[in-house]
Amino acid sequence: MPMEEHHHDLTDDVGERRGFLGAMATAMMAGGLIGGYGTFATYAGRFLYPSGGDKTSWQFLATVDQLKIGSSIPFETPVGSKVVVARQSEGSTAEDFIALSSVCPHLGCAVHWESQNNRFFCPCHNGAFDASGKATEGPPAAANQSLKRFPLMVENGLLFIKVPTESVRGTREA
Ligand code: FES
Repeated sequence: MPMEEHHHDLTDDVGERRGFLGAMATAMMAGGLIGGYGTFATYAGRFLYPSGGDKTSWQFLATVDQLKIGSSIPFETPVGSKVVVARQSEGSTAEDFIALSSVCPHLGCAVHWESQNNRFFCPCHNGAFDASGKATEGPPAAANQSLKRFPLMVENGLLFIKVPTESVRGTREA
């Protein structure tokens, strides 16, 4: 019937308009995402080629949920550096975690996280470090040594660590 046809025409017209607006919204969102990725690429470029010459990159560590508060996980960087990553608080940002070298600056023993004492501990000569890696007891404290810290980043519930991937000196780090 003519009335029904007219009604259908209107519906199609509105549908087309909605489709067009939807396409515009999608295009604008895509533009925003591309802009976001562009920013990320700029940062990634900076991380991959920092001013010092050594190459670094972000490496996946774990999902945020995998690392419970008080627990820690070991990690070895591509150039052989040993790292311990500990979760120190409940939140889900990079500030709730810490990544430190697990190699004691005294004589190179393995340092581990003690959540009950809120410190990193080296059993070789009772060296202790506070939650930020600053030496507080034993030979490392006497020599005012700290554990090397690595930057962390959380993206979409995933935890990443920024580590050297290649040394210009061609030597593997301790
Ligand atoms: S090696 Fe760690 S305190 Fe001596």
